[in-house]
Amino acid sequence: MSQPLKDQRADYVVKMFGAIADHYDLMNRVMTFGQDQRWRRQAAEAAQLHPGDTALDVATGTGDLAFELIKHVQPRGHVVGIDFAEPMLSLARRKASIRRIPVSFEAADALNLPFADRSFCGVTCGFGLRNVEDRTRALAEMARVTRLGRRVVILELTPPSSELARKYMDEIVPRMGQLIARAREAYSYLPESVKDFPDAQHLGRMMQNAGLRQVKYRLMNFGTVALHWGERA
Ligand SMILES: C[S@@+](CC[C@H](N)C(=O)[O-])C[C@H]1O[C@@H](n2cnc3c(N)ncnc32)[C@H](O)[C@@H]1O
Repeated sequence: MSQPLKDQRADYVVKMFGAIADHYDLMNRVMTFGQDQRWRRQAAEAAQLHPGDTALDVATGTGDLAFELIKHVQPRGHVVGIDFAEPMLSLARRKASIRRIPVSFEAADALNLPFADRSFCGVTCGFGLRNVEDRTRALAEMARVTRLGRRVVILELTPPSSELARKYMDEIVPRMGQLIARAREAYSYLPESVKDFPDAQHLGRMMQNAGLRQVKYRLMNFGTVALHWGERA
């Protein structure tokens, strides 16, 4: 993608997630038939964190993956969630405050993480990488801030191989988006962004190129969701 198009994509993504923030969690539960939280739990487990660790959740949105991470690092551990869409972050903060969960949420760009090299014992990104304008750079940033030998975990939708899954994404999801979030365009963007996303093998190679080793992945939900992990070399 050329630079102006990249910048336009970032603008579009910030505005889109800002606009759908209030309905984002509900749409996730409905679209995935309630399975999305289980996938986040599996992503948090794949990070192999221990009590006392510090962890980062990139493109944290409304914070659900960060809330899974904190269960693994308590007591004494710390989790930071970053995102560049303020309305998503303010929902994350509200949820943390209501549930008394001690996760910090900060506004930051996944392409320029404001953290020193090797700051975190684990870094996750759930359904975020598809939306960033420069995935290679985002992966390099996640690897940079991860301690040697510790894990980067990516949970993402992956281009569906079955006709049924494609039809569901292309036709049903945008209609649900209209009904529930009054946001057909945002939920038409979703299947388009999945088509444009590398398949699981390709994403694994991108993670290796970003400086991760022992990269592995697991396909879930009839091959429509991929969980990747790799160790910082
Ligand atoms: C589909 S949501 C995923 C939210 C959350 N991780 C989850 O599991 O539901 C994608 C998020 O990525 C964020 N995002 C996209 N590009 C970003 C960037 N360059 N820097 C920070 N956040 C970004 C969006 O603002 C949005 O909140």
